[in-house]
Amino acid sequence: MKGLINHDDIAKVLVSEEQIKQRIRELGAELRRDYANVEGDIVLICILKGAVMFFADLAREMDLNLQMEFMGISSYGNERRTSGIVRITKDIDTSITGKHVIIAEDIMDSGLTLSHLLQLLASRNPASVKICCLLDKPSRRECELTPDYCGFVIPNEFVVGYGLDYDGFLRNLPYVGVLKPSVYSREEE
Ligand code: IMP
Ligand code: MG
Repeated sequence: MKGLINHDDIAKVLVSEEQIKQRIRELGAELRRDYANVEGDIVLICILKGAVMFFADLAREMDLNLQMEFMGISSYGNERRTSGIVRITKDIDTSITGKHVIIAEDIMDSGLTLSHLLQLLASRNPASVKICCLLDKPSRRECELTPDYCGFVIPNEFVVGYGLDYDGFLRNLPYVGVLKPSVYSREEE
């Protein structure tokens, strides 16, 4: 993909820039209320790279003292299907023992990636771990896991933008859109 983004590749805008902004404001207020009086430090973890936009905007709406950390995980499988077996490609730089962890993730799909990640983080004895994801596709779930905080429940469609990619591209769209199937078939030719 080269040059300007071809917005015609997007079949429809699923969540607009304004809707995202408004919902993150609400999530920020919810988190502020729930975490204002906790004992122990708060660590907000960005799951790279998809959560980058969500993480940056959410952190500014929370108005809490917190540490911002980054974690890279790669799950075996291909772009549109996860195996759920995760490998850490970049770990956080701080200890989470005794701290309150909030995971900022772009989307919960099968849920397998997050459920592996939860097990891994739990072994480090944090005071608590909660999941905050921008999008949730519950119809695709392959394990019993629901996000503690969720921006939008969406139907089973492949979405891009606001951090979510297709083949590494389109993360910088300011909205979440459904990619036209013709885009995949073009790549497969
Ligand atoms: P899960 O383990 O199936 O829940 O996988 C979640 C990960 O798959 C997300 O963090 C995304 O990187 C990717 N993913 C799932 N659905 C989509 C989508 O619709 N568009 C882009 N990436 C997606
Ligand atoms: Mg991806």
